[in-house]
Amino acid sequence: MNARAGTTTPTRHLARVAVPVAVLALSGCARGAPSALDPAGSGAGRVAGLWWVLFWLSMAVFAEVMVVLAWALVFRRRPGAKVRHGQPLRFVTVAGAGVPLVILVTVYALGLRDLAALGDGPGPRATTVEVTGHKWWWEVRVAGVAGATANELHIPVGEKVRIRLRTADVLHSFWVPQLMPKTDLIAGEVRETWLHAERAGSYRGQCAEYCGTQHAHMAFLVVAEPRRDFDAWVTRLGAPAAAPRTDAQRRGREAFVQGTCAGCHAIRGTGADGRVGPDLSDVGSRWSIGAGAVPNDGGHLGGWIANSQTVKPGNYMPPQPVDAQRLPDLIAYLRSLS
Ligand code: CUA
Repeated sequence: MNARAGTTTPTRHLARVAVPVAVLALSGCARGAPSALDPAGSGAGRVAGLWWVLFWLSMAVFAEVMVVLAWALVFRRRPGAKVRHGQPLRFVTVAGAGVPLVILVTVYALGLRDLAALGDGPGPRATTVEVTGHKWWWEVRVAGVAGATANELHIPVGEKVRIRLRTADVLHSFWVPQLMPKTDLIAGEVRETWLHAERAGSYRGQCAEYCGTQHAHMAFLVVAEPRRDFDAWVTRLGAPAAAPRTDAQRRGREAFVQGTCAGCHAIRGTGADGRVGPDLSDVGSRWSIGAGAVPNDGGHLGGWIANSQTVKPGNYMPPQPVDAQRLPDLIAYLRSLS
């Protein structure tokens, strides 16, 4: 075996592995996942702007260093090249200290400007949405309204909305990449941030602080909609849940209220007022089950009720001993709640 083959094979092997991995990683970033570089509101817009300034500055510095390096390698090593001793000191002072100082001071000033802008929250009369982090879901309320929902909050498009954050247990972090940078939820403290969306749409949020086995399944949705739709959502939050319309739904409600479900979950207007798990008054209309764990449809709901531990291991809901004949009724009732 010759020495040459021995030295090139690992390099080629590395290239063969690294290139597809890089392509996959980059395509993964581009597809589906919400990106802070695709801002839809003024908060995330600030961060994205600063990111691009840092990116182009870094590219410029990198390019300059490569040019100087190439010049040193090619020109200065030529036999007979003259080394002038006065020049390096001036060059090092300007390029090594002066230019970096200007760049760092500029970036610092831009950072301070954006930090101040992010601190400029909504006025005292703005809507306040109260969000509490739990292992592993988000409780959502609107200040002054009795009801609650989970893993989904609405905001009126074009308005700054105050978000008041608490945690019921450990550290979590509230992050909606397209709308606002992260705010940590700290035990015993009430934190505040705000959300502002320039265009209507649904924006995915995610817990951004590792909080246990199901940290990844602690997602939520921010729905930005016209003011009248937002007001309708707030009204629904304060109203009793939809009444059952079919016999199956009626039997389902009875099973829910009289069974173990009501010990942990609330449904407004029924006797069920448990506070351990999410309020289920509008569960039929939610975007997912288990804070982004599985889609919200009858099959997944049935599987979740029977044994959610197979869907989201470690969550606090134990397997439910539901009579096989009652399960379809429970599903019919819960699916009707919207
Ligand atoms: Cu909550 Cu991570």
